[in-house]
Amino acid sequence: MDILLESPKSEVQSPMSSIQSQGVPGTPVLRLEGVARDFTDGRVVRRVLKETTLDILPGEMTVLAGPSGSGKTTLLTIMGLVLKPSAGRIIVGGEDVTGFSEDRLASLRRQHYGFVFQQAALIPALDVLDNVLVGTAIQGGRVSARTREKALELLSGLGLKDYLSSRPQQLSTGQQQRAGIARALVSDPILLLCDEPTSALDVESGRIVLDTLKRLSRDPRRGVVLVTHDPRVFPYADRLLKMEDGAIVYDTRSAPTGGN
Ligand SMILES: Nc1ncnc2c1ncn2[C@@H]1O[C@H](COP(=O)(O)OP(=O)(O)O)[C@@H](O)[C@H]1O
Ligand SMILES: [Mg+2]
Repeated sequence: MDILLESPKSEVQSPMSSIQSQGVPGTPVLRLEGVARDFTDGRVVRRVLKETTLDILPGEMTVLAGPSGSGKTTLLTIMGLVLKPSAGRIIVGGEDVTGFSEDRLASLRRQHYGFVFQQAALIPALDVLDNVLVGTAIQGGRVSARTREKALELLSGLGLKDYLSSRPQQLSTGQQQRAGIARALVSDPILLLCDEPTSALDVESGRIVLDTLKRLSRDPRRGVVLVTHDPRVFPYADRLLKMEDGAIVYDTRSAPTGGN
């Protein structure tokens, strides 16, 4: 399959999903105000995320750490507009999106968000370049020359220039993960959300992926949030948050010494 059709039209953004201040340096890309989440277990309601207020700033890497079950993924999926909070407000690029319909949220996600998970989950039947472009192709039906250019640039920057027409299975897991990062970035998101992006990787591939994410977080219009339970990731954090039992119990920003 070759996703290579030109149409400038495909990049016209729907006004419905545009947000006012997208990626303005210094302005939080995301703000959570008193956000909480309950899950019902039989007849018992459990608050797995306690009321949390948090700003995610562009130009930095926010690392969200904590033991398994502490609520990291719950918080990340709320940030990702995938999971609805049981309480609180979500502000994206200055706009309160809490009451948005599923469609509008999905649209926001597509245009302004990038996701990286533990497994890149690339499509085996597509080559690396098409894997990066497939999301854009599905949404717009066509991929513009500019988007293709962007994909090539990202893949080169991630050391995958020689693998454009390789199938995912020909790549190491670290290379697959980098292709997944390129896929997440091709829409130029203001927020990149990564859930345990290195936990399936060996130390060296993990280091390359972390270096990559760190470099990407330097963009003053983009915030990167990385969820991990691996303390080796901590040195990469511009801001380190630690969760326990559904609450942020440590934040380098508010810590008196600023240390870990
Ligand atoms: N869909 C769900 N239904 C019920 N409980 C859930 C659901 N998702 C997560 N939980 C519970 O919420 C808590 C936090 O989970 P999670 O956010 O996945 O933690 P982490 O990512 O830090 O391991 C856990 O106790 C988990 O069992
Ligand atoms: Mg998790």
